[in-house]
Amino acid sequence: MEGADLAQRRIVVAANRGPVSFHDDPSGEPVVARGPGGLVTVLTEVLRHHPGTWVAAALSDAERRLAAEQRAVEVALDGEEYRVRYVAPSPEAYHKYYNIVANPMLWFIQHYLWDLGRHPDIGANELDAWYNGYLVVNELFAKAVADEVGRHAGAALVLLHDYQLYCVARDVRDACPGTFLQQFVHIPWPQSDYWRVLPTPIREAVFRGLLGNDIVAFHTRHYVSNFLRCCADLLDLEVDETRGVVRHDGREVWARAYPVSIDPASLRDAADSARAHDAERELRSRRREFLLLRVDRLDLSKNIIRGFHALDRFLELHPEFKERLTFLALLQPSREDVEEYVTYRERVERIVADVNTHHGTTDWMPIDLRIQDDFPITLAAYAQYDVLLVNAISDGMNLVAKEGPILNRHDGVLVLSEYAGAYEELGAFALGVNPFDIEGQAEALHRALTMPADERADRAGMLRRVVEENSVEKWVQAQFSDIAAKLAADA
Ligand code: F6P
Repeated sequence: MEGADLAQRRIVVAANRGPVSFHDDPSGEPVVARGPGGLVTVLTEVLRHHPGTWVAAALSDAERRLAAEQRAVEVALDGEEYRVRYVAPSPEAYHKYYNIVANPMLWFIQHYLWDLGRHPDIGANELDAWYNGYLVVNELFAKAVADEVGRHAGAALVLLHDYQLYCVARDVRDACPGTFLQQFVHIPWPQSDYWRVLPTPIREAVFRGLLGNDIVAFHTRHYVSNFLRCCADLLDLEVDETRGVVRHDGREVWARAYPVSIDPASLRDAADSARAHDAERELRSRRREFLLLRVDRLDLSKNIIRGFHALDRFLELHPEFKERLTFLALLQPSREDVEEYVTYRERVERIVADVNTHHGTTDWMPIDLRIQDDFPITLAAYAQYDVLLVNAISDGMNLVAKEGPILNRHDGVLVLSEYAGAYEELGAFALGVNPFDIEGQAEALHRALTMPADERADRAGMLRRVVEENSVEKWVQAQFSDIAAKLAADA
């Protein structure tokens, strides 16, 4: 259980993106909006239980002005109160950190996306991005976090998030001895051989940086196990896989799994909005007999193209479904300054045109592609789908697989990649697919669309139940109870 000591601790959260975003409106007045991404929802839940400061990178002029104040600002939005402190790297340093090292380099390694016969090249440009981008931005984060911890080192709890900040923990530990540090890695942790892509000094900096924490957290047991094996294989460290412990620098670092979830009640509230209702009316008026859905950031790891190939194949094998279904693909634009993402978007648009030309008729197109960021439409589509396709190549968790079943009213079938983190919890009630196997995915679409009604209802009910039972609140509690246990073990 959470100890009294823990409740008193000063909490500092750090993540690349903040919980809110400040922008100047056309008259130059700063306006504030909720920050994008699922991380905001789950970290807001953490801060609701344990108020603290959130350190984030300044991404707009308004945020850079706030960063110059070198202190946290307080902001209230949608009934939540946030204390946010911005760090402001130069645009060049941020570009190197975000667009070259974090995405694509680390993201591609951690999602097995590099085609190693051809990519990546780690040349002068990449090394420069590491030393003059990633490390520089990480140092800025470490300084701001240490400043927020201030003189409370022995009574502070620092919660670092994700792959953009692997080299922060050690600096904070050096600057503020006695501070408790936990880092959550929200993306997959691949096996040790794939990490060998990185030159040894960079790889060691990543691992030793992370091992500056007291606890390193992941979404699944599989990633924990990969991480522990990596520590043994790549750094020759002493690892106890049964206890989930790595010995490093005379300390014990724990590796733990906490599968992140969603808050069903607030998702239902959002789906009850006028805009979501309007969007659902519109969807209903246009829907064919069956609605297939995918909802993703436009990211290579999501495996969007193979999903369209699978639909193509399914329609070839089962032409009786022509004109009876629509595959709605809601894709949010992402990382548009990274070349690989630009090319990927073009390929996605091309395959959609090909499949639509191949099977479409004068008044029907199988794929309805919408590259946009529109949450009310997503909520409406969740309510209406018959099949939800989540066929990621690799995915830390995938919250779409949890959000969909909560809102769906059609006993929709979840077709779920075996390589999405969510598969550990939901796989038994979904139709599992190998993301590379297009025939298998085509077959799963057919099975989903022809499944007897009672089986659909049973599976949909079980998916809802698992998600309801593993709420985001439980996710927070599990972490705080391990933090208390680790503090007690180290005392
Ligand atoms: O899954 C990791 C993550 O950082 C999420 O927190 C976020 O939703 C997503 O990737 C988007 O990344 P970006 O901040 O680059 O848009």
